[in-house]
Amino acid sequence: MSSAPSFDSAKFRQVLGHFTTGITVVTAAPDGVPVGLAVGSFASVSLDPPLVAFFPDKGSSSWPKIEAAGVFCVNILAEAQEEVCRRFASKGDDKFTGLGWTSTASGSPLLDGVLAWIDCEIDSVVEAGDHFCVMGRVRDLAVAHDGAPLLFFRGGYGRFAV
Ligand SMILES: Cc1cc2nc3c(=O)[nH]c(=O)nc-3n(C[C@H](O)[C@H](O)[C@H](O)COP(=O)(O)O)c2cc1C
Repeated sequence: MSSAPSFDSAKFRQVLGHFTTGITVVTAAPDGVPVGLAVGSFASVSLDPPLVAFFPDKGSSSWPKIEAAGVFCVNILAEAQEEVCRRFASKGDDKFTGLGWTSTASGSPLLDGVLAWIDCEIDSVVEAGDHFCVMGRVRDLAVAHDGAPLLFFRGGYGRFAV
């Protein structure tokens, strides 16, 4: 039996917010209808076999649709795509309205202007507290544009300075 934590959720968020992440939009198109959500919890996991992972909240309305599709595309956002991130960090059925995108070979939306994309099939889904841990087996991937990433740090957006 685990004991109660010595911190509250605000402190958990505040401390973990010091870990800087890139931002992705994970997309799919079950029955041809595009869905997606902004995801910071993306990670490269294994080279052989090629695996990546992300962690959707159990409250995500897009995740059950992505799971039904059985495939997904990870779109790595470029620094100019803060508005794209805000759009996919919201709830709603109209996230793709007015947005340019094409389809990957497995049928998932590939957003215009992203730095890179990774096309996957769902390998496994494991419960992880109030989230799921989703492992994806990579089918195809490419760098789309030479540029800098959009970053997220302490609850705000940032850019990469060299
Ligand atoms: C920078 C950033 C990173 C995020 N990372 C995640 C994540 O890793 N997992 C997740 O479930 N939601 C994450 N979110 C929140 C979702 O994008 C947000 O809850 C969205 O409204 C979910 O949409 P849906 O209900 O259509 O799935 C993130 C939001 C932002 C702004």
